[in-house]
This record gives sequence, structure tokens and C-alpha cells, in this order.
Amino acid sequence: MLEIKDLSYSYGNSNGVLDNINIQFPKEHILAILGESGSGKTTLLKCIGKFLKPQTGQILFNGENIIDIDDLSFRRMIGIVFQQLYLFPHLTVLENMILSPVHVLKKDKETARKEALHTLKKLGIDDISKSYPSQISGGQAQRVAIARALVLKPQYLLLDEPTAALDIVTTNDFGRWLVTLKEETTFIVVTHDIPFAENVASSGVLLEQGIIKAEGTIKAILSTVHQAVEKDDEA
Ligand SMILES: Nc1ncnc2c1ncn2[C@@H]1O[C@H](COP(=O)(O)OP(=O)(O)OP(=O)(O)O)[C@@H](O)[C@H]1O
Ligand SMILES: [Mg+2]
Repeated sequence: MLEIKDLSYSYGNSNGVLDNINIQFPKEHILAILGESGSGKTTLLKCIGKFLKPQTGQILFNGENIIDIDDLSFRRMIGIVFQQLYLFPHLTVLENMILSPVHVLKKDKETARKEALHTLKKLGIDDISKSYPSQISGGQAQRVAIARALVLKPQYLLLDEPTAALDIVTTNDFGRWLVTLKEETTFIVVTHDIPFAENVASSGVLLEQGIIKAEGTIKAILSTVHQAVEKDDEA
């Protein structure tokens, strides 16, 4: 279980971006973080991924504060795929996949290659193992970035706007694909894409100017938003 307790974050001396956030992310689900541009979604992911250190509050992984967990162990608990996928253009899909295993986990190349191929096969994308990032589609690149993160077998994987560059058909395919992976990895997905969130996520939170405005099923979150809009219209 991943749990965020009383977390607040601000950049430098500016006003707070996240204000007293409390969320629990149970395992074996796909969970969504929704909210308008600038509401603090990426900042929250960066705090959970230990790229930013919150000024107050805690992030607990199975009860342990993540700041007390060493980096390598941490990367095997929580992975992150940013909106810019950071696939190396001069390396094939397979070569991109073995970077962390070889350089971080110090595995020998042949073992890393075999394991990466196994992962690609399991995820149904081994046909593009020899392609370069420029030769694959946006949907395929998104899957490769996730496959690469899954090589470290994290228990949670954070995805920032995974469907932003995808058309609706590719988004639907991608969503179905993601759902097949959730038994082994819990996904926390930041998205603007409400239909996508409704299709894949069992629950989520809605951020508004750094606070949690609503939480629960995506349907419940949407109805909160609609009620707020209707109230505004009446006023
Ligand atoms: N490195 C930074 N330094 C200062 N302020 C920042 C920095 N990164 C983000 N911010 C500010 O923090 C707020 C939240 O930004 P964040 O990127 O978390 O929003 P977001 O919800 O992910 O938005 P989007 O949907 O556009 O990606 C914004 O007001 C933004 O301008
Ligand atoms: Mg963002």
C-alpha cells in the first residue's frame, strides 16, 4: 500500500503548489489523478517518485517513509514514466530496455537481453525489439517506455499523461493493454482524458489548485464536478 499523509509542496519561495494532500493507493488497481492544467498533478507524481522533496508530510510505502529507503530498493518499488518518454533515439527498443538492468542492476548484457525480450514478448511488443524509436508509433513508444520501467519490476508505476500524444483508437487499445498488466503492477495515472480514466481506473482523485477536491470512483468524481458547475450556474 502506498499512502500520502499531510503532504504539502512549494517550489522555492512561491506559494504552495500542493496543500495538505492525503491519499491512499491500494494495490492491484489502476488509479487516476485528474485535474486541470497547473493543478499540481506532475508535482505530486514527482514527490511520490522522490524527484521532489515535500516540505511537510510523508509518503509511506507499506508503512515505511520513502525517504528512508535507499534508491535502488526504491526504484524496485516505485517506477515513473514521464510525459517525455526519454527513449534514446540512437538505440533500438531492446537496447533502450537493457540500459537500467546493465548499468543500474549490473546484470551481464546477455541475461539483460534475454529478460528484456521476455518482457517485450509478455507485453506483446517483441516484434519491434530491433526498431529505433523513430520507426515506431506513439502508442508503441508509450508501451516501450512502460516495458522499460517494468524491467525493474516496480510494484507501483506512475504514468504522466500517457495518452496525451495518442489518437482515440490508440488510446483505447493502450487502455485495454494497461488493464491486462494491473495484477502485477499498480498504475497511478495522471490524465486529462476523462473517458480514458473512466475506462481504465477503478478510482482516483481530482486535484484543484493543489488540494483534493473530490475522490472515489471516476463516476463519483465527475458527478461532484457537475454538481459544482450546476451550483455556479444557479448563482
Ligand atoms: N520547476 C518549477 N518551478 C516553479 N514552479 C513550478 C515548477 N514546476 C511547476 N511549477 C508550477 O506548479 C504548479 C503546478 O504545476 P504542475 O506541473 O504540477 O501542474 P500539472 O497539474 O501537472 O499541469 P499540466 O496538466 O499542465 O501538466 C503550476 O502553477 C506550475 O507553474
Ligand atoms: Mg503535468
